Amino acid sequence: MSAVTLGLDLGTTGVRVVAIDATGALLLEANRGYPLRTPHPGWTEQDPADWVAATLDALAEVATRLGDERPVALGLSGQMHGMVALDATGAVVRPAPLWNDQRTGDAVKAIEERVGRAELIRRTGNPAITGFQLPKVVWLRAAEPEAFARTRQVLLPKDYLGFVLTGAMATEPSDASGVGCLNLARRDWDDEILAALDLSRDLFPRVAASDEVIGHLSAPMALATGLPLGLPVVAGGGDNAAAAIGLGLSSARMGFGSVSLGTSGVIFAPLDAPTPDPLGRAHLFCHADGGYHLLGVTLAAGGSLRWCRDVLAPNATYDALMAEASTVAPGSGGVTFLPYLAGERTPHLDPDARGAWVGLSLAHGRAHLVRAVLEGVAFSLRDALDVMQPITPLFELFATGGGARSPLWRGIVADVLGVRLQKPRREEGAAYGAALLALANSGAAGSLQDVLALAPRDGEAVKPNHEPAYAGALARYRDLYPALKGS
Ligand code: XUL
Repeated sequence: MSAVTLGLDLGTTGVRVVAIDATGALLLEANRGYPLRTPHPGWTEQDPADWVAATLDALAEVATRLGDERPVALGLSGQMHGMVALDATGAVVRPAPLWNDQRTGDAVKAIEERVGRAELIRRTGNPAITGFQLPKVVWLRAAEPEAFARTRQVLLPKDYLGFVLTGAMATEPSDASGVGCLNLARRDWDDEILAALDLSRDLFPRVAASDEVIGHLSAPMALATGLPLGLPVVAGGGDNAAAAIGLGLSSARMGFGSVSLGTSGVIFAPLDAPTPDPLGRAHLFCHADGGYHLLGVTLAAGGSLRWCRDVLAPNATYDALMAEASTVAPGSGGVTFLPYLAGERTPHLDPDARGAWVGLSLAHGRAHLVRAVLEGVAFSLRDALDVMQPITPLFELFATGGGARSPLWRGIVADVLGVRLQKPRREEGAAYGAALLALANSGAAGSLQDVLALAPRDGEAVKPNHEPAYAGALARYRDLYPALKGS
């Protein structure tokens, strides 16, 4: 083995650590879970202490299993947008609200009033969005002034881990562009936006490059994990950018992106310039390779299917449900499902949007309901794609995430998007991308572009071939959001 690098993904349900060699081959992985709290409807929080405990445990397992092999660097990635507020001693001030937290409606309005929506989109690539970190900071100031008064620094989830591991506070552009006040062209905090909101730049950490070393493993952390003292820790990327690095998706190769069917559904499109959707419906973020990317997000993709299973068939396996759904023809016999169970981002940007099954008759059964869920998620991804295509045409998408393991669902998504999909042979996710960023920094496998070429590209191709079958159902789907809004 030579030049082993580690990558870490601080996800919403757990942390994953991988070790790879200089050829990009996966050597081993370790996973640990932690709880998600919902103290009020619409709030989602985690205790950063749970992240730390799980991460140290996973790193210790990796160190033990690597034996005498000493890793040369560790790259970070994780869930985006969360807020870890720290006091002057570096202690956590309150539990961290997460990316899918919806408490910040008033803060979003206040930010758009003070800065202007069009100006925000022009500077940061996005309007103010409930899940982003900046509205959380504005919410904290208004809702918990005592906690805000003690806050000296706010960090994103993976950057907080970087601080715990090294003592250094830093972020990098792919995650920082999901805060809401990063100037995309400059890849640094936007002083005018911060001034308009009366917020100090000192609240936010230094912005390093994604493949830059932000610090070195401290003595207590080396002791806690068994990893080498002084191990370089590389800034890494937000989970979407890091996962894209792990798929070899480069902003130098536009037209090739990914569609992920995880809890949320995400379309990722690399971009070589910061070109926003003028209406801000798809997110525009920095990529971890120095370029940019668009992100179309539907909040409940696999989340809708899980909900559907839990309420209709809690004892059924997903395979059984898929087999049932496959007995129904495209169009679900006229049943339409809106997947807005957790509000919606692209294209509606409406945290109050709600889900629905519409068009039911006595002739319909569970198979129609399940198939309508699979199709409704695909339609919401198509809405996202239609916002993104005029900015950057997409020719081929890697299909990733748990939902893409179903041949039925990937076929529906290919048909509805009308784009060729590629199911990667291996899918290692954001932790793997973070390890590749660390490998790029180590120099053991050449430049970042060389390292991107190590990502596994081959897989099973899925060509769209029943597009017309969905035309009527897509039109019905599109009529429903405006018709049901507010009901
Ligand atoms: C992206 C987003 C999610 C989180 C989840 O904008 O909110 O993909 O990063 O991990």
